Amino acid sequence: MIEIKQATKIYHQGMKEIRALRDISLTIARGEFLSIMGPSGSGKSTLLNLIGGLDQPTSGEIFIDSIPLHGIPDDELTLIRRRRIGFIFQFFNLLPILTAAENAGLPLLLEGLPFSKVKPRAEALLRKVGLAERIEHRPEQLSGGEMQRVAIARALITNPAVLLADEPTGNLDSHTSEEIFRLLSGLHAEGQTIVMVTHDRFAAGHGTRLITLKDGALDQDTATGARVQ
Ligand SMILES: Nc1ncnc2c1ncn2[C@@H]1O[C@H](COP(=O)(O)OP(=O)(O)O)[C@@H](O)[C@H]1O
Ligand SMILES: [Mg+2]
Repeated sequence: MIEIKQATKIYHQGMKEIRALRDISLTIARGEFLSIMGPSGSGKSTLLNLIGGLDQPTSGEIFIDSIPLHGIPDDELTLIRRRRIGFIFQFFNLLPILTAAENAGLPLLLEGLPFSKVKPRAEALLRKVGLAERIEHRPEQLSGGEMQRVAIARALITNPAVLLADEPTGNLDSHTSEEIFRLLSGLHAEGQTIVMVTHDRFAAGHGTRLITLKDGALDQDTATGARVQ
């Protein structure tokens, strides 16, 4: 369902050329839970951002459900991203003035739906991620783990083809991290396709497959403990 063909990403910094990704080819099947590891600066976030349509490759091709994410206008990319891709980040990226339910519903609110229409689904997802008692809370009233749960609810609100997570526990203690990994494993068990960047080799064991990057290139690609749903 996700196909990456010879993707290369070059950043320019003044006169310097940074090859963040070198000729990456990768196919990710529906129902996979793929972990991505590698040293800092090896291109993990760049790869995730290309899969998520946050950025476009310098050359090469990326498809999600046969829809191209390369060489298209930015506004088109934004719509595909909002409707088909769920993204969670290390620092949660919640809007401080919105409640948990409003944050969770944001992708649909941005589509122009009224909150009254969005609210039932936002609340159902918050209950699903264990936040039934936090629906009206604002981010500052939530713990880090709770904020990441809100972000997961927000990522799921459009029923995305894939859930992308960039070091989702990088800002959480080990106990809370384990709870978030368990939540992601549960979503995977229900059929959600997940691609997660992590520093935590143990966390990668929750997935079905682990790839490692080295200097922007694909290094290893191995099957891990969990089963593809
Ligand atoms: N917007 C950018 N402009 C210039 N260089 C960048 C940009 N984003 C990332 N890079 C560079 O690309 C390389 C890969 O970065 P990144 O994908 O963030 O690595 P990782 O997530 O594995 O730590 C690094 O050398 C980084 O400095
Ligand atoms: Mg990164």
